[in-house]
Amino acid sequence: MRILLLGGGGFIGSHLTKALIDKGCKVTVFDLYEEKVQDVVSDNLTFIQGDIRKCHDIIEYEIKNTDLVVDLIAYANPKLYVDKPLDVFELNFMENLKTCQLCVKYEKRLIQFSTCEVYGTTATSYFRDELKEPDADRLAVFDEDESPMIMGPTQKQRWIYACGKHMLERVLHAYGLEDRLDYTIVRPFNWIGPKIDYLPTETGEGTTRVFSNFMDAILYEKDIQLVDGGQQRRAFTYISDCIDALLRIIFDETSVSKRQIYNIGNPESELSVQEFAELMIDIYKENWWDQKKRLPEMITVSGEEFYGKGYEDCLRRIPKIDKIREHLGWEPKVDLRETVFKCMEAFIK
Ligand code: UGA
Repeated sequence: MRILLLGGGGFIGSHLTKALIDKGCKVTVFDLYEEKVQDVVSDNLTFIQGDIRKCHDIIEYEIKNTDLVVDLIAYANPKLYVDKPLDVFELNFMENLKTCQLCVKYEKRLIQFSTCEVYGTTATSYFRDELKEPDADRLAVFDEDESPMIMGPTQKQRWIYACGKHMLERVLHAYGLEDRLDYTIVRPFNWIGPKIDYLPTETGEGTTRVFSNFMDAILYEKDIQLVDGGQQRRAFTYISDCIDALLRIIFDETSVSKRQIYNIGNPESELSVQEFAELMIDIYKENWWDQKKRLPEMITVSGEEFYGKGYEDCLRRIPKIDKIREHLGWEPKVDLRETVFKCMEAFIK
């Protein structure tokens, strides 16, 4: 099978590239950067370096000549949604819309990356003071086809990312209704693993996602910054489980995944951001701590201080994974402690 990975040079794409090459596929990766796929050496791998915003003819040619398109192109870092909302809209929505339309034109199957952020800021966040357990639990578990998506106000530009992905999903669904597109949408829930992001101290670049920021603090003796106190919760999922889910979708011979949306996440691995920081420190102490090094303190910063004006958060989001389990037999296998250990190990090595 010929597979085109748009944005295949990033964290998820690099792991997927390796897995597909191991399966004997012919893979073309289109990305700005090659670094993360450089260790995959194969005659079956073609890398095209480019910016999708400037390479429309190349993209059209590649889509025309492939069997399957996997669209991973996106800015996926909350700091960018706050700082550069128009860039996020143009890349994540406008460019991905063109990809979708080319898949319609050339009748190609499309696997579109969306996000768990489409569930928005959620009822749990908005009604936090009124909610009582167990209602709070019930409202934090999201079903692909039933749960409402509750977006924050327009002035909180953080939601432009979620809204862009949300609208893209609706466009795919509409093409599907007219029987013009064979697609599958995936909604990742905080996937982590080797090659995720960079460490800000090493690259000199600002804010990344939570794992890399905390790893940076641990390795470079900084403080861990808990945004708004760190009581918000996330369910983290190890990359090998995620790749397993993607391969099941890609090689789905029964077409059960056609025009479906899947949450891909580990509901068992949910914890608060503060607990996540404590777990990372605990694993670090147990395995690698040189006692001369200072361990990080935890400090609280406001969302506005940390990300800038226009940030808002989601308190809890847990994936319901019954559908992918029933359709494709997928189940996450790597538990939370092992997930965090493996990620940290990769950065320490
Ligand atoms: C981000 C992206 O927006 C999603 O598109 C993406 O799907 C998701 O990551 C993901 O990885 O699946 P978010 O969950 O907010 O969403 O990711 P992080 O930036 O990793 O933040 C997680 C939580 O930790 C947030 O509540 C954030 O405020 C907090 N945080 C982050 C800290 O307390 N300290 C930090 O140094 C960084």
